[in-house]
Amino acid sequence: MAQIPAATREPLYRQVRRTIEEGISLGRFDPHTALPSTRGLALELGVSRNTVNIAYQELISEGFIVSRPRSGLFVNEEVVSHLGPERRAAATPPAQVLWRERLRPEHDVGLPEVAKRSDWHRYPYPFIAGQVEARSFPSLAWSRALREALYEPHLHYSLRDGIAADDPLLIELLCERILPARGIEASPEHVMITMGSQEGLQLLSHALLGPTSVVTVEEPGYLDARHVFMRAGATLAPLRVDTSGAVPPGHLHGVDLLYLTPSHQHPTNATLSIGRRHHLLALADRDDVLIVEDDYDSELRYQGSPSPALKALDTSGRVIYLGTFSKFLAPGLRLGFVVGDAELVSHLRGERRYSIRHPPGHLQRAMALFIASGHYQRAVRRHRIALRRKWEATCRALERWVPVSVVTPPGGVSIWVEGPDGLDAVTLAESLDEQGVIIERGDICYLEPSVHRNTFRLGFAAIRLDAIGPGMRLVGAAIADQLDNALAAIPTTPAEAR
Ligand SMILES: Cc1ncc(COP(=O)(O)O)c(C=O)c1O
Repeated sequence: MAQIPAATREPLYRQVRRTIEEGISLGRFDPHTALPSTRGLALELGVSRNTVNIAYQELISEGFIVSRPRSGLFVNEEVVSHLGPERRAAATPPAQVLWRERLRPEHDVGLPEVAKRSDWHRYPYPFIAGQVEARSFPSLAWSRALREALYEPHLHYSLRDGIAADDPLLIELLCERILPARGIEASPEHVMITMGSQEGLQLLSHALLGPTSVVTVEEPGYLDARHVFMRAGATLAPLRVDTSGAVPPGHLHGVDLLYLTPSHQHPTNATLSIGRRHHLLALADRDDVLIVEDDYDSELRYQGSPSPALKALDTSGRVIYLGTFSKFLAPGLRLGFVVGDAELVSHLRGERRYSIRHPPGHLQRAMALFIASGHYQRAVRRHRIALRRKWEATCRALERWVPVSVVTPPGGVSIWVEGPDGLDAVTLAESLDEQGVIIERGDICYLEPSVHRNTFRLGFAAIRLDAIGPGMRLVGAAIADQLDNALAAIPTTPAEAR
């Protein structure tokens, strides 16, 4: 029997009555077994027999319990039979759900996962990639756009369930202002808004890939795209990368999809040369291969102007372009876009309708107003200037503090470092973490990580400008330490070798 709660204003007999009543409604009493005697229950609950007696009398008069001559008091069977089966079963604790048996087995594609620190913003020296410095976000202009999107004539588009459709104003502005800057001509039926490039990759993989598909990927390359392709069942075929981007192979026979990051190759930052762009397009045309162009940070070029997108050179409609606002504004906004053939876009819309329907209308309309007001272009300009300063500071600090020669292409949001063979960037990242420095290990960007432990990436978008020098000094010292230790461990004389 449950305990009587202490210190309530309810009369004691009512509390006793409620306790018994709850026991009955939860099916705790077997109707064939007598209820505890007045004396026994009074002792158990620490109340007087009279109190229990009054409670029992009330329950008898209301039909919850019945008195059987010479047998005692019993729960009324009729009351119990009216309880739902779940109530009757409640007396014994229900079996716990075994989630491992219910969930479909995770598709283990055998790739490592990027382990991103969620508390990176508390680090003094976060050379982390894929994040932005929150201070640089145009909060005031963005909050004005969000507010304006909640008034007429925008309110409808902010709040409606668009089913499969996106905000027509945002699509129109992408076609008229954003895509032409990348050399892309598109009309609204060619464009769909995504919740970032990652969703674009996922939708495309779902639509285009299966267990017999082969996807050619840059090596090293973007790990999360590899996960998406392999989760769709595809096999990956690596394509070597050098300082001019992906090296065109002899042919693309048997390949279904070629995934490229031409503007700034992920993770090396190399820009795909114009000659190779034409070459790869010609190969794809000849061997009938689709190309996904992931243009995640195209506009972030600090010397010269951004090269036009590969999509701008596409004459057969085989290039599917992925754009995102993650790198120019903030990844947390989760807004991007896909540009492709109208038939493909219509298919993707149909697919998306049954998952998220569409990215939030309010965000889409706010982004449209942000672009229409000119704030977007101003924000990108300002962001590019701030990033150029950080890029210059990172290059200077690298040269001064880091005892490794580094190629630094004039764009992107990170710098790729390939250290000498003796360098172990995995342990380097761990030891730097203890000093408040985040660097990104590079080995996991390769299909065979174990032979590329000498590589790492330094993101410079999230770190404060004034932290770059001191942070890089720590990186340099840790590298020198590791290389010195490695050198000291090599025996120099035959005697030491023994
Ligand atoms: C090459 C590349 N593609 C796509 C993405 C994902 O972008 P989004 O935030 O738009 O999903 C990233 C993010 O870091 C990236 O580096």
